[in-house]
Amino acid sequence: MQQLILPVLLASFWTICTGSADWCYQSQFTCDHQCNTPDKWNLAHSDCGGKYQSPINIVTRKTLKDERLTPFEFNNYQQIFRDTIKNNGHSVKVGVPHLSTISGGGLPTTYKAVQFHMHWGKHGGPGSEHTIDGEQYPMELHIVHMKHHYTDLTTALSDPEGVAVLGFFYERSNSANRKYDPITNALRSITITNSNTSLPSISLAQLIPAEQNLTSFYRYKGSLTTPGCTEAVIWTVFENTIPLSMDQLRVFSDLQFHDGKPMVGNFRPVQPLNGRQVFRSGGAVILVSSTLLLAAIATALGLSQPN
Ligand SMILES: *[C@@H]1O[C@H](CO)[C@@H](O)[C@H](O)[C@H]1NC(C)=O
Ligand SMILES: *[C@@H]1O[C@H](CO)[C@@H](O)[C@H](O)[C@H]1NC(C)=O
Ligand SMILES: [Zn+2]
Repeated sequence: MQQLILPVLLASFWTICTGSADWCYQSQFTCDHQCNTPDKWNLAHSDCGGKYQSPINIVTRKTLKDERLTPFEFNNYQQIFRDTIKNNGHSVKVGVPHLSTISGGGLPTTYKAVQFHMHWGKHGGPGSEHTIDGEQYPMELHIVHMKHHYTDLTTALSDPEGVAVLGFFYERSNSANRKYDPITNALRSITITNSNTSLPSISLAQLIPAEQNLTSFYRYKGSLTTPGCTEAVIWTVFENTIPLSMDQLRVFSDLQFHDGKPMVGNFRPVQPLNGRQVFRSGGAVILVSSTLLLAAIATALGLSQPN
């Protein structure tokens, strides 16, 4: 009898400690809470072990310039909306009415915005998911879009190009970015997992750099960066960053995971490229060369000679 009880007890402990849906970030792992860290996500979600996973480290000198990566057209990004901001236990997520759309930028069709969320470090330390030449930024914004004719993300994820995510890095600045006050103020009300609150009116445009500064970006095909890790994402990672003060970056660390521990380090480590090519837009380079061209013409005409 006694010989039977022990294995049964152990088995039930095992279930409690490692429930199959219990994925977590490396920062959440403790001996008391042995959840599935990113290296084990594939145990319950096989796609996480796939060949075309995200995020990645972008090695800029290995990127290939692609003239098809023209500037994006942002439609209704100025549209003011109200929605709820939620601590979902992994991040903060804001649902977006499907009115804002993107096209151009080398995308095969029009995609509509579905939600946005962030990934961050500890107290403003390294926390982005993508890295550029090995540099990890303090935070990264993901605006998730799906092809315009789909009505839900689940359906879009069954199309290998069904989802387009725009990724933006945050960078520490000396002054606060007042356009982020609605978000940072709301965080105080949602420190606990699964809590939500309504956001005052905001637009997607106010959260990202000005449109004319969004012509330099990287492009590759990858996956969702959380389980199920579905490989259905056209990734765009912008070169221009969003400024936030240290105080603004720090408030994200006041959020809590479901066990009450600070929600920090909620990023997946970079994944192998496995032969994928990363492309870069021509935008910035073209701007520079036309400026140089004008300068050359001006010089030739003697316009820039003051004497
Ligand atoms: C927000 O929380 C309330 C309960 O406080 C719940 O009824 C509602 O469904 C939640 N909304 C979302 C979007 O999670
Ligand atoms: C665009 O970027 C440049 C250089 O980073 C910056 O000086 C300028 O203020 C930006 N423009 C807008 C409208 O944000
Ligand atoms: Zn994300």
